[in-house]
Amino acid sequence: MSELNKTALKILSNGKGILAADESTGTMTKRLESVNVESSPENRLLFRETLFSSEGMKNCIGGVILYDETIKQTTKSKQTVPELISSYGALPGIKVDTGAKVLAGSTEEKITEGLDGLRERLKEYYKLGARFTKWRGVYNISDKYPSKLSIHSNAHALARYSSIVQECKMVPIVEPEVLMDGNHSAEDCFNKTSVVLKKCFEELDLHNIDLTGIILKPNMILAGASSDQKLSGEDVAKLTIRCLKENVPSEVPGIAFLSGGQSEVEATENLNLINKYNDSNFIMTYSYGRALQQSALKFWSKDINNIQDTQKIFNHRANMCTLAAQGKWSAELETK
Ligand code: 13P
Repeated sequence: MSELNKTALKILSNGKGILAADESTGTMTKRLESVNVESSPENRLLFRETLFSSEGMKNCIGGVILYDETIKQTTKSKQTVPELISSYGALPGIKVDTGAKVLAGSTEEKITEGLDGLRERLKEYYKLGARFTKWRGVYNISDKYPSKLSIHSNAHALARYSSIVQECKMVPIVEPEVLMDGNHSAEDCFNKTSVVLKKCFEELDLHNIDLTGIILKPNMILAGASSDQKLSGEDVAKLTIRCLKENVPSEVPGIAFLSGGQSEVEATENLNLINKYNDSNFIMTYSYGRALQQSALKFWSKDINNIQDTQKIFNHRANMCTLAAQGKWSAELETK
């Protein structure tokens, strides 16, 4: 078993999942301002430190994805953030792309940037304690999108990123996110996600990536957010599993879904059903941002010094997700 494979399994095994706390300063500012909290470096750290030092971290979280600012911050107890995360038994990770920019040649679409100077940044992040990384490619669905250009160029960037990350002895999270925005059907999402995944794995193969040492972070197969199509959780689970079995090579150890705009309970219920019906060898778990943090953030904003009660809210969410990652969640547990 390679070291990278061991790292991936340490993050994802036993129902554990990933806390995606890697919002850029711009995104975090929007989140904090939406609940009337000032977005200062101190407040951004305080909220994150509250989550990172919770009971839920020990029991549920195998890895935390950080943003550049956070990985370099020091906590009240004079630990670095990566030291705090490691002391709770999780691995620190880092978002290394520099964001999705306009794709020249198809200007309504985006290409993720950040390859220039990546090797040097990775060496620094490794020294700071990071053992895995994230890069997110985004794809819109419409009658003409994603274009071949977007599918090709984002897959190429994800593969170039993955090869440099593995060279630097870290596990790359490969995140091709087909967005929920739009009125497309679930079948459309299934077909377009299939093409996107196929191309990603073709490029990963071309770049000689050790597939046992990556984590795939895909979207679930859902109808568009403004579509009228009513899909049951069972349908979401069955379509998602089929799409992954058909397009993801079996060497990949684990799949950690993004929540992508689903509510907390919806993202939990769908993950639970995916695990109930999972007849593949892939570990199927979560790498949620909003679906792990939303309620905790809302509660915290009312009194940012109420650490303990904020942690209780986060612990509950993390516990629910970890039960779902084992197919053991039920709706009644939400209200207990
Ligand atoms: P959401 O779960 O909020 O979609 O965030 C996950 C993530 O890391 C997106 O890149």
